[in-house]
Amino acid sequence: MAKVVVLSGAGISAESGISTFRDSGGLWEEYDVDKICRAGCLVDNRDETIEFYDKRREDIKDKEPNKAHEVLAQLKNRYKDDIAIITQNVDNLFEKAGLAHEDVIHLHGYLTEVECEDCRLVYDIGYKKVQDSFNGKCPTCSSNKIRPFIVMFGEQAPMYKRLDEEMQDCELFVVIGTSGNVVSVDNFVVHMDKSILNNLEPSDAIFDELYTKVLYAKATEAIDEIRLDIQDHLKTKVDRLTHNLISATVHMRNYDLDGLTFEYEKDANFLHNYLVKIIKEVDDLSKDEFDAVITKLIVEFKDRRDNKLKKYETREDFNALICFFINDFEYEKIYTI
Ligand code: APR
Ligand code: ZN
Repeated sequence: MAKVVVLSGAGISAESGISTFRDSGGLWEEYDVDKICRAGCLVDNRDETIEFYDKRREDIKDKEPNKAHEVLAQLKNRYKDDIAIITQNVDNLFEKAGLAHEDVIHLHGYLTEVECEDCRLVYDIGYKKVQDSFNGKCPTCSSNKIRPFIVMFGEQAPMYKRLDEEMQDCELFVVIGTSGNVVSVDNFVVHMDKSILNNLEPSDAIFDELYTKVLYAKATEAIDEIRLDIQDHLKTKVDRLTHNLISATVHMRNYDLDGLTFEYEKDANFLHNYLVKIIKEVDDLSKDEFDAVITKLIVEFKDRRDNKLKKYETREDFNALICFFINDFEYEKIYTI
């Protein structure tokens, strides 16, 4: 799972005009959390609960992502599987900042979605009131028992399993805008070599000395430093792989590859063994990283051979493959080999 995990809370959306919960003037000062956000509230206090989430859903319609959402969305889109964006927030600001909904792990549900309590269908109603969408009925089974797709206190939170999974391989844990009152972030950070905490001020539920870097500042002010730390952590690996491949190709120049025709079946092993030797000489990649590089290269080799180039008869064709592969690491310029 991801090498970098970013876990956010209400604080990351505060500068977009969405209230936090426990800051002064926060939601839990205005509303009785037991009445509208506790397991059973949809039985004992259904109308007020539905009204509360209808209002919050409508409220996020005109809210825009801020710089913190945008920077994290860019990083996630660039380093895909190496970074996980996990949030306790139910707003859609990461999605508005350019992230696919499936690329954001929402631990406590999602405001624009509702769930049918009979057939369990979850569907998106945008910013409408429950009653104004499909006439308040489930589009599949026509039940009128439609609830906000929100995890209430005391209810199961199935996405916490995803959080635990993502934390397995985490090397850098970034916490932004949460008081730690619900997800006890300290429990994760004790196992981390590197961690960043960004809040406005200390929280009773967070022991900040556990974090390798603490930034008490607005998320939009701290995010540039956080971005650099994340890039430094991730880029090293991607840079290294590219450097190895470039060096490998330069080495190839010194080998007499001219005229060598790669017949896929016979020569793929040659390619594999050759690169194993060359790349290993250049750098000690982890086994997984190395296998990922080689597998991708072999697949690419076969794909290009079957679809475009019948034979890699010259060094130029082979170098084109390496450049193509390097470029696949989203490197803007193609390295001149
Ligand atoms: N930049 C960074 N941090 C901020 C900012 C900001 N602009 N504004 C506020 N914060 C920080 C505060 O310092 C505080 O630590 O955000 C945190 C907000 O804490 P809470 O209001 O408790 O929100 P959160 O931690 O997300 O609550 C967790 O509790 O009520 C439930 O389900 C709800 O998901 C929520 C969960
Ligand atoms: Zn239904």
